[in-house]
Amino acid sequence: MNKTIGIGVTGGIAAYKIADLVSLLKKEGFEVIVMMTKAATKFITPLTLETLSGREVITDMWEEYSDFNVPHIDVAKEIDLLVIAPATANFIAKMACGIADDFLSTLFVANIAPVLIAPAMNTKMYENAIVQNNLAKLRDYGCNIIAPATGHLACNDIGKGRLPEVEDIFNEIKQILLLKKDLKGKTVMVNAGTTCEDIDPVRFIANRSSGKMGYCIAEEAIKRGANVILVSGKTTIDPPEGAKYIPVWSADEMCEVMQKYQADCDVIVGAAAVGDFKIADVAGQKLKKADQETDKLILELVGNPDILKALGQNKANKQVMVGFAAETNDIVENAKKKLETKNLDFIVANDVTQEGAGFGTDTNIVTLISRNGSIKSLPLMSKEGVAAAILDKVVDIITDL
Ligand code: CTP
Repeated sequence: MNKTIGIGVTGGIAAYKIADLVSLLKKEGFEVIVMMTKAATKFITPLTLETLSGREVITDMWEEYSDFNVPHIDVAKEIDLLVIAPATANFIAKMACGIADDFLSTLFVANIAPVLIAPAMNTKMYENAIVQNNLAKLRDYGCNIIAPATGHLACNDIGKGRLPEVEDIFNEIKQILLLKKDLKGKTVMVNAGTTCEDIDPVRFIANRSSGKMGYCIAEEAIKRGANVILVSGKTTIDPPEGAKYIPVWSADEMCEVMQKYQADCDVIVGAAAVGDFKIADVAGQKLKKADQETDKLILELVGNPDILKALGQNKANKQVMVGFAAETNDIVENAKKKLETKNLDFIVANDVTQEGAGFGTDTNIVTLISRNGSIKSLPLMSKEGVAAAILDKVVDIITDL
C-alpha cells in the first residue's frame, strides 16, 4: 500500500512502543513521517525513530528540515493518515481546543487527513470526565479513537489505559485507510445481548447470547460514520466508544426503549436474543426450596412482546429494518416467515447447530435473505466480517430507496 502515515508521538511511557509500530508500517510498505513533542523525546530518542522510518523526525517548530519547506503545511499535504500515539491527556486537551503551540499540535490543526488517536495513560486520568469530554469532542470532529487496552500499567496500577498492542493499532490504520464513511449522517439503532426475566428478587431467566454479534454491528456502524444507539441486554462486553449506550434488563424494557427511539432511526438491527417468555407473577420475596413432597416448583410463563414485530408495524417508509433468525432446521423457510411477520427488509439467518455459528462464538455462518427474494450465503467469517457484510447490504438498500 503506497500511503504515507504521519505518526505523532506525545510524552507517555508507551512512546517506546512506537518504534515497533514504525518498523511494522515500514515492513508493510508504508512511508512514515514521525513527529514528536518535546516530552516524547524524554521517553524515546528521535534517532531511533529516524533510523526506523528512514526520514527526518520533526521535533521542533523552529528548526529547519531538509525534506520540508514549511514543515507543518508540507507534512499535512503529504500524509494520508495522522496517528497520534500514545496520546496523553494534555495533548488530547490541546487537540480538542485547537491549541497550536508546538509542531505536532500545529500540524494537527493544519491536517486534513483522517486521524487516529490512541490515548494511553493511567486509568483514573483516562476516566476523568474532562478527558472523556475532550475525546467525545474529538470524535464529533471526525477523529477515530482506538480504546486503550486494560492491563498492568507502568504506574503499577491495573486498569484501562495501556496503549493497545502495536498489531491492533496497525489493523486500525489499515481499516481507516480502506474505510467507507457510507453511513455518515444516518442513525442506526442496534439491540444486542440477552434479555433477562426476573423470577424473584435474586433469580432470573436469560440465555447464552454473548452479545458479540450486535456489538460488532454497532462498532462497524460507528466506524462508517453513523450515530449509533446500542440498546443492550446483559453481556460482558464493554460498549463501543462513541455509541449512545442504553443498558436494559427485560424484553419489556428493551421494547419500550426501542419504541421511544424508533422515529429517530434510519436503520434498526435486531441482533438481541430476546427471551420469548417471562414469568407470569414475579415473586416479591426470594422463593423457597421446591415443595418437599413433589420436589417440584412450577413457574407459569407468559409471552414477551415480539420487539421487531412491534417496530415493524410502525416502520417508516425509508426506515431499513434487519432481523436475525436463529434456526436449527428449515433455515431459509423459517427465516422467510420471520422476515414477513416482522416486516423486515432482510433477515440474517443462521443455523445455530453448525460449528462456528451462533451463540458465544467469535465467528458466524449466515445467509442474508432479502424481501425481494435474493439469498446470499456467506462462508464462515469473523463476527466483525459478518457485521461489515450486513452493513454493506443496508447501504445498498438505503441507496436504492
Ligand atoms: N425478536 C424480537 N422479539 C422477540 C423475539 C425475537 O425482536 N420476542 C427478534 C430477534 O432479535 C431476531 C428475530 O426477532 O432479530 C428473530 O428471533 P428468533 O429468536 O430467531 O425468532 P422468534 O421470533 O423468537 O421465533 P421462534 O423463537 O419461534 O423461532
